[in-house]
Amino acid sequence: MPDEQKKLKIQPEQQSNKLAICVNKRFSDKPSCGMRGSIEIANAMESGITERKLDIQVERIICFGMCTQGPSMRLIPGGDFFRQVKIEDVSNILDQLERIIVSQE
Ligand code: FES
Repeated sequence: MPDEQKKLKIQPEQQSNKLAICVNKRFSDKPSCGMRGSIEIANAMESGITERKLDIQVERIICFGMCTQGPSMRLIPGGDFFRQVKIEDVSNILDQLERIIVSQE
């Protein structure tokens, strides 16, 4: 993930506890998040959220319309996109979410 996309920029009005992750899998030569590892990323995000007891719900969605920049995810509604996410970025994203989302405990 390029440096400028590693920081989660959340405006106060964008704070949300819903994280949408695109898991669209296209079996053609068109790009899709699911064919670039987003299902594994969604699984890792869900596990990390559970382990850290974060009050965040993951919604697996089919396509943000940013298919060439996937895997992509965002807080909904209105959060900035994480694009070109890799499995090794999950821990960094979870750290950032942990800072902005109140723990369930
Ligand atoms: S396939 Fe993920 S944004 Fe379109």
